[in-house]
Amino acid sequence: MSLKDLSKTSMNKSKRIFSGVQPSGDLHIGNYLGAIKNFVSLQKEYECFFCVVDLHAITVWQDPQQLAHKTREVTAAFIASGIDSDKNVLFSQSQVPQHAQLAWIFSCVARMGWLNRMTQFKDKAGKDKENVSVGLFSYPTLMAADILVYLATHVPVGEDQKQHLELTRDIAQKFNNDFKTDLFPVPEPLIFGEGARVMSLRDGTKKMSKSDSSDYSRIMLNDTADEIVQKIRKAKTDPHTLPANMKEAYKRPEAFNLLSIFASFNNKSTEDVVEQYAGKEFSSFKKDLADVIVDKIDPIGKEMQKLIDDKPYLDGIMKKGKEKAIYVADSVLSKVYDVVGFSKT
Ligand code: AMP
Ligand code: TRP
Repeated sequence: MSLKDLSKTSMNKSKRIFSGVQPSGDLHIGNYLGAIKNFVSLQKEYECFFCVVDLHAITVWQDPQQLAHKTREVTAAFIASGIDSDKNVLFSQSQVPQHAQLAWIFSCVARMGWLNRMTQFKDKAGKDKENVSVGLFSYPTLMAADILVYLATHVPVGEDQKQHLELTRDIAQKFNNDFKTDLFPVPEPLIFGEGARVMSLRDGTKKMSKSDSSDYSRIMLNDTADEIVQKIRKAKTDPHTLPANMKEAYKRPEAFNLLSIFASFNNKSTEDVVEQYAGKEFSSFKKDLADVIVDKIDPIGKEMQKLIDDKPYLDGIMKKGKEKAIYVADSVLSKVYDVVGFSKT
């Protein structure tokens, strides 16, 4: 997509996608199934902005030596997974200052009570509320700015981001009401079935996460085929054979998680997979599961490495993406400035 093709402020109300992924650790199959795999399908239909959200990442400490590298890694993962860098806008959040500028305005629109309800903040802050960064608390206002500075209408995310999306909708509506405008669309979350909530391989009640201390809890996009096989072999199960039906599967979180992962990689429903493996041994199912994950993930990991090794190529893509992103974001932000009443002199 050239600059000319970008609908600058999307005032024609065409559909536009925005989504972000943090460069705060290695990407795992939760990120892939919950988000990136869906980005790949959506690019056919929508104008898409995919952003590596490094401003979000620093809400918790990030090693400065590592951050730029991790940002490149996520960009490489997007491309290696099949996102077309010509057709879509791929860029890093910190390079487009309009995100932070709009986030400030939104932090004056959002209410303390709204942010106080965010369960992700409560989970991440835990008992250490007094000691976490202010940014970790106000994080959802930046997320709203990411989306709305492009007037995005649809946001593909995993289930864990649903509440942040609801807050984004509240902010868009309150801004429009307060300033008597219809500038912002009220964006829709796009949360897709089976992969929307991938759980830890060590504990089927906990989300698969970059920050889990156990490497065996997740499969990374850059794991080797052997590592994938090992991790699936060691994945926690229960002493029974595979569940006979969905009702039983719901009661057995580890089995349910592995069945859903298998379903998502095969573009099937969990129900179909439960039926397919009902009463079978975990050992044979785990072999099939490892095979499909290796089949899908191993080529992505290898392609990612090739891209990461070609720094000028990746940097070129991000530079082009940044220019396109600024082109749109700047035009939306200048409308916001007018609406809010900021003096131009
Ligand atoms: P993050 O790594 O937190 O920036 O997440 C990037 C994207 O991956 C977001 O859309 C998340 O909702 C999604 N995601 C993260 N962890 C999981 C998971 N365990 N299952 C499904 N989606 C996930
Ligand atoms: N908060 C998201 C996460 O932790 C990442 C993110 C930041 C995002 N800005 C966004 C996702 C905008 C979708 C849209 O996963």
